[in-house]
This record gives sequence, C-alpha cells and structure tokens, in this order.
Amino acid sequence: MIHEYDVVVIGGGIAGLYTALTASENAKVAVISKVHVTRSHSVAAQGGIAASLGNEEEDHWEWHMYDTVKGSDFLADQHAVEVLAQEAPNAIYTLEHMGVPFSRNAQGKIEQRRFGGHTRNFGEAPIKRACYASDRTGRAIMDTLYDRCLQKGVVFHNEVFIQHLLFALNSCCGAAGYDLATTEPQVFHAKAVVLATGGCGKIYKTTSNGFASTGDGFALALDALLSLEDMEFVQFHPTGIYGLGILISEAARAEGGVLRNGLGERFMERYAPTLKDLAPRDIVSRAVLNEIGEGKGVEGKDYVYLDLRELGRERLNQKLPEITSLIKTYLGIDPSETQVPVAPTCHYMMGGIPTDAEGHVLADKSGTVLPGLYAAGECACVSVHGANRLGCNSLIDLVVFGRRTGLSIFNEIKARLVHPLPVQAESLVLDKINSLLESHGTERTAGLREALQCLMTEECSVFRNGKTLEDALGQVHQLKKRLLNVGLTNKSRVFNYELQEALELGNMLRVAEVIVYSALQRQESRGAHFRSDYPQRNDEEWLKHTFVNETPTGLKETYKPVAAGRFAPEKRRY
Ligand code: FUM
Repeated sequence: MIHEYDVVVIGGGIAGLYTALTASENAKVAVISKVHVTRSHSVAAQGGIAASLGNEEEDHWEWHMYDTVKGSDFLADQHAVEVLAQEAPNAIYTLEHMGVPFSRNAQGKIEQRRFGGHTRNFGEAPIKRACYASDRTGRAIMDTLYDRCLQKGVVFHNEVFIQHLLFALNSCCGAAGYDLATTEPQVFHAKAVVLATGGCGKIYKTTSNGFASTGDGFALALDALLSLEDMEFVQFHPTGIYGLGILISEAARAEGGVLRNGLGERFMERYAPTLKDLAPRDIVSRAVLNEIGEGKGVEGKDYVYLDLRELGRERLNQKLPEITSLIKTYLGIDPSETQVPVAPTCHYMMGGIPTDAEGHVLADKSGTVLPGLYAAGECACVSVHGANRLGCNSLIDLVVFGRRTGLSIFNEIKARLVHPLPVQAESLVLDKINSLLESHGTERTAGLREALQCLMTEECSVFRNGKTLEDALGQVHQLKKRLLNVGLTNKSRVFNYELQEALELGNMLRVAEVIVYSALQRQESRGAHFRSDYPQRNDEEWLKHTFVNETPTGLKETYKPVAAGRFAPEKRRY
C-alpha cells in the first residue's frame, strides 16, 4: 500500500510528536510508529525537564548553559547548547499553555527541584531547575502532545515497522516498512522524512529503555551511508532497580534520597563533595561501581542501596508516587521502610545522527545538508550533550529541537519538490521479510540477542579498555555472521514478533559495532567514556567529535573539532 503525505515522522515519542505538531500547521503529516504511539519510550521519563525559570530561586540561562557544557565534559557544541538553554524557559511556558499538568509550588508557579549537575552561579551549589509533573513528566508531556496532534489532524500509523528510507535525486522522498499485524508492505511517499526513533538501550543486558529501543533509526541512517556521531558515549543511569534496570528517577535523590554502600556510608561525599548524590551521572555511576569493585557493595554483592527512608511515606506518595509503586511492584518492598537495591543501568545515547540546530540531517562532517531528511530527539546528535548528558536535559532537548525541526519543515515544505518514489520500494521490504520467513537457518534470534547484550555489558560498559573493546569488536563480527544463518520457528504473517525481533537484532548489531568501534578509537577518558587504559581526558588530541560510517571494507572513522564557545575546557570538579 502506498500512502501520500507532505511529511512523515518515524517515531512517536516527544520529539516526533512535537515535530509533527509544528509541521502540521501547513502540511499533511503522518507519524509512523513501531509501537502504539502512546507507548513510546518518552513516557518513561520521570523526574523532570530542565529550564532556568527561577521559580524557586534565582536562575539564568547562562548558568544552565555552563552546567550543560561542563556536564558534557566540554564535548558539546556550544552554539547548540546556547540555543537549548536560552529557549528552554519559553518551551516550558508553551507546554504549560498547551495543558501539560506541571506540579505547582505554594505560589501557584511551576514547581522546580534539584537534579544532577545543575548548579547556581557556575558551579557553586545545587539549584532547583527541573520542572516536573510529579514523577510522570514524560507521560504528561506525551499525552498533551498526542491530544494536540489529533486535534490538528496528524495521521497515526501505529505498529508499522520501517525498514528503508527511500531516495530520489539525492533527496529523501519517503520510507518503506511493513504492518506488524499483517506483514503487508507500507510505502510512505513524502517531501520530508523525520527520524525520531529514540535510542538503543536494548543492546545492553540491563537498561531503563523500553523494548522498542533497538536503534532502528541509527541503522536506517547507516543504510543511507550516513555517519553516526559520538556513539562511544553511552550513559548509564546510576539508579536502576538491581537486576531489572527499571529507572528510579534522579528525582528520588533530588527529594532527599541518598546512596549508601554495604557499610552504610554515604559514599558520594567522597567523590563529589559539593554536589554529592546529585553529581552528574557518569561520575555517580563510576562511583557506585568503584564501591562495588572495592567489595563495598551490599553484602559484597554488585549493588548499593538507595536510601529513601528519610522522605517518609507521605512525601514519597506525594512527590514520587510512580517510583514508589514501581518499587513495591517489582521488589515487594516499601521504600519508606526499606532501602532499595540499585545499580547502573544503560539509559541514553549521547551520540547519534548528525544534525544542525534546525534538525537537518548532515551528510558529512563539513555540514552538507541531506535534502528531505531531518532528525530529532535521542537518535539525533545536535550535539548538546557531548560526552555526558545532564538529567532533565533530555526532555528539554526533545521539546526545543523537536519544535525547531518542525519549524524548519514548516518553512521549507512548500518549496520542496515531490520526487518520484523508487519503483522497487515494496519489493525491497517483501524480499527482506520473505528471506527471513523462508530461511532454514539454525541460529535463533533470542540466543544471539542475549549473547550481544552480555557482551556489551561485560566489555563496553561504564568502564572499558583496549583489550575488552578489541575482543568485543571481534565478537560482534561473529554475531553478525551468525545472524546470516538465523531461522524463524514462527512462519506466520500475523503479528510475527519473532520476525520483528530478527529484524531488530540486525539493527542492534550494526549499532553495537559502531559503538564499540568508536570507543576503541578514542584513546582518552571523557564523560561517560572511561578507558581504564587511558584514564585522563586529553583535550590536546581528543577535543573532537567522532564520525563513523559503514563502507564495503568495514567501519571508517573521521573527526570534527568541537564548536568552541564562551566556556573554555576546565577540570570537572563537583
Ligand atoms: O532520573 C530521571 O528522572 C531521568 C531523567 C533524564 O534522563 O533526563
């Protein structure tokens, strides 16, 4: 089936919905999503969205910008961070006017709380900068944007899994995939295509990410011969529920929770004397694993405690109802009485598809725009997060750059030509599906996926080194070979999840290879990328972005200097 639109947005999280909403002012827009849109991973964002409103105490966008640049370990491009920090307050007011039910303080203003790495007066002390809707901030924003999109006539194609971007005359002119319910090919012809497909946390064994986060957009970009930027920077959130990875928001520490090792010590006082438990995530995650490595995990095991008992039942129910309920459901304990076992969980990709601050996808490191293709959200790399993202800067990134991407399309769509669809669009999809359904291969997706997740967790996690990365790269190559011999036990064409998972695994393996390869090249430690064989940051050689793309002879890397700005690199002390 062929569908005609002006704009198709692939991915229905906050970035995708905001782009769709903005573009829908003068274009016919569709959102295509592998899951039902309201189940997109943005709903899992809990603790807040950063903006220097100054509702609780004095704040300035320049302070927010400084914290973001320092948090990024000076790898973020400062012109992009300036846009983010400057536009954040108005972005919040726009959301408020759309109807997002933000929590309120005693004056009736949007309430704000502390979050990791956010400070006043250029690093002096923690500041209340995170606006929030209880601990369901992502859900509140998503639902509001979804309603708005429906009002504006945005069309939703739920449970359609895109397999190819389509190009004509060097311009993106659509996308092709299949309907998960029927396996029928679905071709979308459009003047503009937006990638808003989120991240790829599922390549790790323990992740806060939803099942759909399998790096599909990254793989579509690689197919289009594009580079992926800064993929070595993978964020681990320090407080995933132990063994499950489910997120316990940083808001828990913002509200007064503290991390304790097996000796009961509040160990973050030693690692970050000023910000303590609210230091940036890369620092807290390493601290947790250091304690565990020194045998100071709880009972010598590989977790520590998040102690929320001081907050008391009433405050927990009022400020953190969602995580209180998650803890009760998954651990069977009451956090007002019992400490919560936590460990770092894979949370976020700082890198992604290179874009400018208007959401245009860049075809090369010199900034050539690829006509017709845009990207926003976690799958894009603007780059505002550099080597480490601050908590709450993700939601504001989705909103600010989702809107800017939509505005670019709004301004450019009328002048864009309609390019013809490639004739083989449907058969491209069918051939891929049929070859999997007809394969008699002996490998099974589940086993290969588990092997990948274990490998990434063991060899390319919070700590890495040349030896583990070399080994991981070799093993990813082996897994890619084994995937060629995958067979499906389920041959049905109706909601065949085994088929979907085999296709997702292909994407996951390609993205994992880029991550490991990028990490192997970067011989320094910066932000979330900690090389135990190169433990220092090295600005002389490595103040630059990594670009990696696929070639017929394997992955190739190239580099681009960081866009400097008002803040010169300094040592990160918290
Ligand atoms: O801890 C959290 O609530 C996560 C927020 C974020 O990743 O920005």
